[in-house]
Amino acid sequence: MKYIKLILPVLLVFLLLPSCNQQPEIGLLMDTIERDRWAKDRDLFVEKVEDLGGEVTVKVANSDASEQFQQALEMINSGIDVLVIIPVDMTVSAGIVKMAKKKNIPVISYDRLIRDSDIDFYVSTDNIEVGELQADFLSTVKPAGNYVLIGGPTSDYNSFQLHLGWMNVLQPMIDKGDVKVVSDQFVEHWEPEDAYNMMSKILEKGETIDVVIAGNDALAKGAIQALEEHGMAGDVLVAGQDADIGAIRNIILGHQTITIYKPIQSLAYNAAEAAIKIAKGKNLEGMMSCTVNNGYSLVPSVLLKSQVVNKQNLRMTVVSEGFVEEKEIFE
Ligand code: GAL
Repeated sequence: MKYIKLILPVLLVFLLLPSCNQQPEIGLLMDTIERDRWAKDRDLFVEKVEDLGGEVTVKVANSDASEQFQQALEMINSGIDVLVIIPVDMTVSAGIVKMAKKKNIPVISYDRLIRDSDIDFYVSTDNIEVGELQADFLSTVKPAGNYVLIGGPTSDYNSFQLHLGWMNVLQPMIDKGDVKVVSDQFVEHWEPEDAYNMMSKILEKGETIDVVIAGNDALAKGAIQALEEHGMAGDVLVAGQDADIGAIRNIILGHQTITIYKPIQSLAYNAAEAAIKIAKGKNLEGMMSCTVNNGYSLVPSVLLKSQVVNKQNLRMTVVSEGFVEEKEIFE
């Protein structure tokens, strides 16, 4: 009897804390794997979680917000320990967070901030800084002239952050009268066709264009296609982001001026480490570099630095770090 009394509490602790003995189950909800970077994000994230003893279930919504909601519902009901989201739509994903929280599942917002919701951690690059880097580089080369701004979809909070970065740099130049923004619009999807259509319309008006700042390399690609059709590719400065292989080829060709290289490995590894720590009930204080206000709370966050890539430094950056292989560029 005395032994039973001693053993019983120990047994109870084991029964009440089953997750301590289990592999943490992490759910990763992705928007798309269409663009070059996202397959890298996925592979690196899965690799790191597995290295740390966890398991990952990945679902890709193919840019369909209601599909992502459905996938979230299934994942939450399957009993994952932590949910990591690359949201398709910031409003719909706030609903996903609510749903996860009802089941006490912690949520990490990956790359894109989920606004007005109770997220536990946010891992991204400093997207305002990305916008500033783009605008800074191009406006140093062309401090006066006609500018076109092609923002990403407004369902992605990154699009607003990038735009804020652009305006931080350009507003004083606009006020001085040196820079004229001839078009400042957001596309509906992160697709080259969206930017192509937008740029074609602008060029059909016969406006002189000196600079195009695009939300990413897919949009830059669409804009360059329209410029090519008007015989203007190479005469107009163009910025994108992501260091897509197509963008690097366009940089070598002289049709794109810069792209932004984001530290995808560090992004994925930080998210994986945070997910495992949260699953194991550990504190994230040592990991966070700042807090970000998402309209609901000050979210513990990691915001990483990006780099400008141009013709001069692409071998010292994306190639030497193994992000792209030299032979891929010239295929
Ligand atoms: C953004 C992301 C970019 C780009 C884009 C399209 O949210 O920050 O790097 O990939 O989505 O997928």
